[in-house]
Amino acid sequence: MIEFRSVSKRFPDGTIAVEDFSLELPSRRTTVLVGSSGSGKTTLLRMINRMVDPTSGTIEIDGEDIARVAPVPLRRRIGYVLQNSGLLPHRKVVDNITTVPLLEGVSKRDARARALELLDTVGLDRGLADRYPSQLSGGQQQRVGVARALAVDPNIMLMDEPFGAVDPIVRADLQQELIRIQRQVAKTIVFVTHDIDEAFLLGDQVVILEQRARIAQVGSPAEILANPASDFVADFIGADRGRRALRAVHTDGRTVLIDRDGRAAGVLLEGEPGE
Ligand SMILES: Nc1ncnc2c1ncn2[C@@H]1O[C@H](COP(=O)(O)OP(=O)(O)OP(=O)(O)O)[C@@H](O)[C@H]1O
Ligand SMILES: [Mg+2]
Repeated sequence: MIEFRSVSKRFPDGTIAVEDFSLELPSRRTTVLVGSSGSGKTTLLRMINRMVDPTSGTIEIDGEDIARVAPVPLRRRIGYVLQNSGLLPHRKVVDNITTVPLLEGVSKRDARARALELLDTVGLDRGLADRYPSQLSGGQQQRVGVARALAVDPNIMLMDEPFGAVDPIVRADLQQELIRIQRQVAKTIVFVTHDIDEAFLLGDQVVILEQRARIAQVGSPAEILANPASDFVADFIGADRGRRALRAVHTDGRTVLIDRDGRAAGVLLEGEPGE
């Protein structure tokens, strides 16, 4: 379990990014932090691996105050996946995945064998192992980023808008893949997004944040949907629901459902139930 206790972060220029934040993140579950830009999501995430240290308050992992753990060994226990994969461009896929295990003293042979297994885990062909990141699509690069984060078998995975930079179809694929991987590996995942639909899809626990990381509501997707705690939450949920709203367009004998972006979302055939 990760526990934030009254954590605040004030940057040297005076910006208060996080103010008195307390939360328990259960082990082997996915907690999604969702909120608009500048609400402090990345700052919260980076405090878990000590890339940012709180100004006040404490963060514990399984009861241990992480302020007493040196950052480098701490980070080796925690996988970190970034929006733009963060792969080293002039190292092959396999070498990107094995970097940290090799630092940990794993033999080259074992590290490579494990990297190939991880390519299977994230749904990539082993044939891609010897390519360079630039020879992969954006979605494939993100999968390598996930494989790299899993390579040290961390208990915790931090994911900062990992699927933000890919198109909606690839994104849906990656989301399904993550759900499948999480069923298999059951890590404590902290996932940041500003997409409420992604939050509800992936989160066991969803945390809706206002500015300064004030918690507007925390709960399961079902709890939040059934019972928004405030107008802010209702708006936050509603805004996206509205954007997804479908309208029906009738054309020769068919009804086509069109979303706000003008894309066809489906077709109702005549005589179908519910027409
Ligand atoms: N190093 C820094 N120095 C000063 N202010 C910072 C620093 N890093 C972040 N901030 C500020 O802290 C606040 C929270 O930033 P943070 O990056 O955590 O937000 P976020 O929720 O991840 O936003 P986004 O969705 O845009 O990524 C913002 O006002 C930001 O400008
Ligand atoms: Mg951010």
